[in-house]
Parts: sequence; C-alpha cells; structure tokens
Amino acid sequence: MRKPMIAGNWKMHLTRKEAGELASAIKKGLDPDLKHEVLLAPSFTNLETVKNIIFDSKILLSAQNMCWEEKGAFTGEVSPLQLKDIGCDYVIIGHSERRKIFGETDETLNKKIKSALKNNLKVIFCIGETLEERENNQTYRVLQTQIQNGLKEISKEDLSAIVIAYEPVWAIGTGKTATPDQAEDAHIFVRKEISRLYDTNTSENIRILYGGSVKAENIDELMAKPNIDGALVGGESLKADKFLRVIHYQKVLSK
Ligand code: 13P
Repeated sequence: MRKPMIAGNWKMHLTRKEAGELASAIKKGLDPDLKHEVLLAPSFTNLETVKNIIFDSKILLSAQNMCWEEKGAFTGEVSPLQLKDIGCDYVIIGHSERRKIFGETDETLNKKIKSALKNNLKVIFCIGETLEERENNQTYRVLQTQIQNGLKEISKEDLSAIVIAYEPVWAIGTGKTATPDQAEDAHIFVRKEISRLYDTNTSENIRILYGGSVKAENIDELMAKPNIDGALVGGESLKADKFLRVIHYQKVLSK
C-alpha cells in the first residue's frame, strides 16, 4: 500500500513571519487522525522558522533544491549536510523551474539525487513535459529520458527514498490542470518505466504525485485515480484554508 502524500511547494514566497503564520495555521487545521503524509517546502531562509513550528506535528519538512556537494567553495549554494542539520526530511530535485530557468540538466539532477540519498535526505524528483512536447506527441519520450537519466545508477533499495512528482510544465501556475485521465495515463507510463528499469514490485511501491494547478476544487477527482498517490501543490498551498481542503481530500468512489 502506497501512503499518499500532499506536499506544498511554497516556491520563492513568504517572509519568515508569513511562513510561520501559514505553517501554524496548517498545523492547527490538520485532522489528528490523518493517515497520509503532509509536507511543506519553504524557501531556505524559512526552513528553520517552519521547523520550529512543525517539529511536534506529523508535518514533514522539505527544501526546494540543494547543491550536490557537501561543503566547499560553492558560493550561494546550500548543501545536503546543512539541510539535514536544519531538520529537513526531504528535498525537491528537478523542479521544472530549476530545469527551465536555471538550466539544470538531467546529469546535475542525478548528482543531486545521489548526494541527497547519501546524506539521508529523501527526494521528491520532478519530471514533466512542456506544452510543445505534448503537442508533438513527445510526452512519453521526455518522461522516459528524464527518468532514465535522473535515476541513473540509483539502486532499487535507494528508490524507496524517492517520490516522483509528475508535473506537466504547461499545467504549472497556469490554472490549466491536466485532466485526471491525462495525469493517470502519465503516471501509468512512469510506473511501467520504473518496472522496466527495476521490477514490478519496485514500481508498485513507488509513490507518484501529480503537480500542476492542483486546487481545492480538483483534488478529489485527481486522488480518485488509482495511480495518483498525492499532489505537489504550488499556489494553492499558500492559502491555509484552501491547502487544508487539499490535504483533507475526499475519497471518491473509484479509489
Ligand atoms: P501550481 O500548483 O501553482 O500550478 O504549481 C505547481 C508546482 O510547480 C508545484 O511544485
């Protein structure tokens, strides 16, 4: 059984005060009997503030990026040791904004994933196609390349510390969510690819989150799909009431 995860990626938003207030409101609104995982990914500067609020709750802490090196002359970078030290459980690697705006490649992402795992940080590894790639029927080829290169030389055992997030670039911040069927199709493809590269058991156990304009209004139908194990939420995770509704999604019939 795969444990669902609802993750909030706060991107480059919020001051420490705002981040603290939002984390407190989310913690306060959580159903104490919630069985699935909830994770917050604030900016580096807000990690400690958020950690100090959620430390006695079930909420997990994630960074949004990291350097593959543990220490040294890498001005402006943050290392896995530093993330561990501050109390991070996870790190997001390969977000499309990192790939597109900051030129991160499959090769550097692979180095980052290996380094995170070596330092006992779990990973949310993001993949996804652009609109152009989708329109040119290249979605599966792009996903396949991102998976193959990103997970190169990563063992089956290590894969249990990785969550994959399928985030079609055209759905991020656009209000255009993939339909539940489109997301489910991509997730099935990702699972097949993991099965091909590893084995069926590994592919059955890996969690695959959907990201891209997830809202309070569409989370239930997305989570109804058998291969959608959770969500990576941007904009909607910045509003406590909306994000709490996403976290407490309603199970609908087919799940
Ligand atoms: P939005 O939910 O704002 O579309 O962002 C999705 C995302 O990029 C999460 O990592």
